[in-house]
Amino acid sequence: MKLNYLALIFYLTLTSCTYTNQDGNSPRQTMILKEGWKFKKGNFIQAIQPDFNDSDWQSVSVPHDWAIYGPFDKEIDKQVVAITQNNETNASEKTGRTGALPYTGQGWYRNTFSIPDLDNNKKVILQFEGAMSEPEVFLNGEKVGEWKYGYAYFYFDISHLAKPSNNTLVVKLNNREKSSRWYPGAGLFRKVSLIVKNKQHIKQWGNFITTSNISPEIANINIKTQAVGKNLDLKIQIYNKDGELVTRHSTKEISNELFNQNIKIKNPVLWSPESPYLYSAVISLYSNGQHVDQTEEKFGIRSIDYSKEKGFSLNGRVRKFKGVCLHHDLGPLGAAVNKSAIKRRLKILKDMGADAIRSAHNMPSFEILELADEMGFMFLAESFDEWKKPKVKNGYNLYFDEYAEKDIVNLVRATRNHPSIVMWSSGNEVPDQWSKDGVERAKWLQDLFHREDPTRPVTVGMDQVEAVMENGFGAVMDVPGLNYRVNLYEKAYNTFPQGFLLGSETASTVSSRGIYKFPVKEGSMVKYEDYQSSSYDLEYCSWSNLPDEDFVLQDDKPWVIGEFVWTGFDYLGEPTPYDEVWPSRSSYFGISDLAGLPKDRYYLYRSRWNTQDETLHILPHWNWEGREGKITPVFVYTSYSKAELFVNGISQGIRVKNDSTPQHRYRLMWLDVKYQPGELKVVALNDDGKAITEKTVVTAGKPYKIVLESDRRLLKADGKDLAYITVSVVDKAGNPCPKADNQLNFSVERNATFKAACNGDPTSLEMFHIPTMKLFSGKLVVTLQSSNEVGEAVLKVDGDDLEGATLKIETKN
Ligand code: GAL
Repeated sequence: MKLNYLALIFYLTLTSCTYTNQDGNSPRQTMILKEGWKFKKGNFIQAIQPDFNDSDWQSVSVPHDWAIYGPFDKEIDKQVVAITQNNETNASEKTGRTGALPYTGQGWYRNTFSIPDLDNNKKVILQFEGAMSEPEVFLNGEKVGEWKYGYAYFYFDISHLAKPSNNTLVVKLNNREKSSRWYPGAGLFRKVSLIVKNKQHIKQWGNFITTSNISPEIANINIKTQAVGKNLDLKIQIYNKDGELVTRHSTKEISNELFNQNIKIKNPVLWSPESPYLYSAVISLYSNGQHVDQTEEKFGIRSIDYSKEKGFSLNGRVRKFKGVCLHHDLGPLGAAVNKSAIKRRLKILKDMGADAIRSAHNMPSFEILELADEMGFMFLAESFDEWKKPKVKNGYNLYFDEYAEKDIVNLVRATRNHPSIVMWSSGNEVPDQWSKDGVERAKWLQDLFHREDPTRPVTVGMDQVEAVMENGFGAVMDVPGLNYRVNLYEKAYNTFPQGFLLGSETASTVSSRGIYKFPVKEGSMVKYEDYQSSSYDLEYCSWSNLPDEDFVLQDDKPWVIGEFVWTGFDYLGEPTPYDEVWPSRSSYFGISDLAGLPKDRYYLYRSRWNTQDETLHILPHWNWEGREGKITPVFVYTSYSKAELFVNGISQGIRVKNDSTPQHRYRLMWLDVKYQPGELKVVALNDDGKAITEKTVVTAGKPYKIVLESDRRLLKADGKDLAYITVSVVDKAGNPCPKADNQLNFSVERNATFKAACNGDPTSLEMFHIPTMKLFSGKLVVTLQSSNEVGEAVLKVDGDDLEGATLKIETKN
């Protein structure tokens, strides 16, 4: 009772904090420092002092990305460089490489908090899940500590400096120019939390849960817990997904501050992408019989195996990764992490049939790992894009010697209980691949991962395939990962000892949603005057390839254990093939665009990855005024192997997938269709030639009316939940207008706020947070954020000469 009362006082006093302790009886409290932050960009060394007047600083909530509000500016972090890993030999001006958003320079954050029940018996931990970058942390005028890598998780023990009230927390961040190859974001872009516990406690990230000897009847759960204190004993209760107690266990045996328990679970329900079943372990620490600490860990029961004979198996079943690489930014929201935004992305990937994610090229957010566990995605958790040799002048090479071990230790300890993580990656295309030192470094890093976690293998995404075959780098890795280089797979497989290969990065095909170029032809680094790439999905980079070539390897080579496509979604920065021209400022690689809208390629992957649902998708759109009578090829991405195409009812012939080229094997293509306005219809056929299903695309008339479609009808009134509303324009008959580019205006009333708009155009310089934007290829997406109030939110969208639209969304607790 007493503890409940204290928790209540704690909550009421800490106006700057959200109290997140779910169990009123828990002797530990976790507060997320979300509200009450003050922020200013610039150099403010005097802000360290508690009495500093920050009243003119901006009020922000954390997670926060100071750079996403722009404006875009080609001069920001303009890099005059030769990108050697892209085979460039001459330096040229790269605008937009890091997104052309103002992420460089210093940014300062201040917050005040209280810990009313603080006494000498308490331990206070301040945890950062990432801080971009080079964080220096001060409490009550004293320096607490510092870190370097913006993506790293780290924490400080602040017990000696914390007071019951009026604690002034100050964080200085600094982003150097030329420190990234993509948009890194800026600021406290992930959660900051305070953990208040007793001096006798479970250590930070001190639980390690692994599962073994799994059979349908029984599974062994090993739980190691690091704890400090006197006369300790530990009690563990394991609950199933429905919150029912499955088993309990207790022990007093502790050696070197480590409890090591083996617990059996009968009839275990296994975790897999198809059935992401989670258990939870409530771990309670007692000292002299008094309850002194408690943590709760979610875990899954699953086995992973990588073998010469079978490749990769999950729970004894051989399977191949159907994965995508993801950068951490959330498009129009920037790098500020938001669980609701990630969840939407993961839903889109699920529908496509993906079952795996690689966090390119750094530590994943805690939120994406929680969702991967819950929604069922296997995870390749990566750490670095650079080791000791630079790719960019001020990249991780500056910190490698001092921080690599610390960063890996924290990555593993903080995330090792996630069943979704099935592999670690110590690096991506590191230039160290070339050298003997690099081979030693690869071994050293891999050994660190093994020391911290003996249960998972380690990979590196390798692009210098000839070199790593030669110098032994590739042979060191638990899992040899190849980035592109489809022509070298066979040779690498024969050279490396492991007996299997992973496509750690594949495709890098480029396209702009809804844009089609003629004549239709395959090409590398193809550029057009409008700085867009064609959605016929035949354009790639000088180092990369088309999806179909990866599919051939995945399908024909049992020793290829899967692929991670570059990338699931477009991201800010790296606008290849337009990195030398302005205003390109975001990528063209995504299977879906920056707004999360599927490009045509989405359906190509869906047609082979989603084995539950049918896919039948036609491209291009059918609005080609001026192309009458001209060759306008039609592609169909489908889970069916045969189909007939009709233009205005006239058959264009039947196509059957065949092995003549990789494209003919995975796409149905009518290359000589002549455009006539009207109706394009595809009919999928079974082996006997009978129609199974059909899809139609028609030539639309003039834009007439705005249409809104929300992914959510109900939002949680927690100030964080998001609804994504796809805005499109239709003609009088209701047909989508695929070329509409009207300027639209948005207003939001009542219990939500306008968060962002994004149209997926990599060349647009309109800012995401301003409530007006042009449609791109007939569409854009508006994001609304719930307030803390229960009720209704209303979005209104209008545009000149268009019938406007209104959408209502409910907000609930
Ligand atoms: C890879 C690299 C990625 C991205 C990609 C673009 O070589 O690992 O980070 O740059 O190329 O194709």
